[in-house]
Amino acid sequence: MSSVLLRTTPAVRGALRAGALRPAAAAASTSFVRGKATLPDLQYDYGALEPYISGKIMELHHKKHHQTYVTGLNTALETIGEAESKGDFTKAATVAPLLNFHGGGHLNHTLFWENLAPASREGGGQPDGALLKSINEDFGSFDTFRKQMNTALAGIQGSGWAWLAKDKQSGTLGIITRANQDPVSGPYAPLMGIDAWEHAYYLQYENRKAEYFDAIWNVINWKTVASRFEKA
Ligand SMILES: [Fe+2]
Repeated sequence: MSSVLLRTTPAVRGALRAGALRPAAAAASTSFVRGKATLPDLQYDYGALEPYISGKIMELHHKKHHQTYVTGLNTALETIGEAESKGDFTKAATVAPLLNFHGGGHLNHTLFWENLAPASREGGGQPDGALLKSINEDFGSFDTFRKQMNTALAGIQGSGWAWLAKDKQSGTLGIITRANQDPVSGPYAPLMGIDAWEHAYYLQYENRKAEYFDAIWNVINWKTVASRFEKA
């Protein structure tokens, strides 16, 4: 597991405690260099998830959208650091929502890229082993889980995410939806996320988002999900 290195000033630690930027994200290979977040490389080409997700979507989604969250996160951290050094905690507090939004956006997308893979490689199919056993126990079957996940995705109003998550105390699996870029945090470990923002599908699927929610199962990287399941 890679570590998430942040400038842990008291203000940032406060934001962390408040759930603005949770260590749950440490499960992702987020790349922070000397306190700066950087855009992670993808482990596959932009066109490698076709025909399920177009190369154009992947390129824009990664290079433009994710980059915006990275830049916004660094700016928010910088602003909070400066405000704190001046003792201006009111200013630091007003920036906290931006830290949540951009920090969550960076972490969610980093997890997302890693839980996808080309169908010609690890993508698609079903999990096996302990993860499949847990899915069967907690949802009844893999098929039921997939249907419930798609129902959750369809029910998101506006922008957000649906996650397969593990309760770290009980070990139980469940589906969690989050609005905007709010990260999965607290007692829950995010195992597999699906981005329900329009930017994730609109260029290819337009208003037919249910088709995108069906198609993406062909490129889910169950190896990554199983690895997160075991570590959580
Ligand atoms: Fe996105």
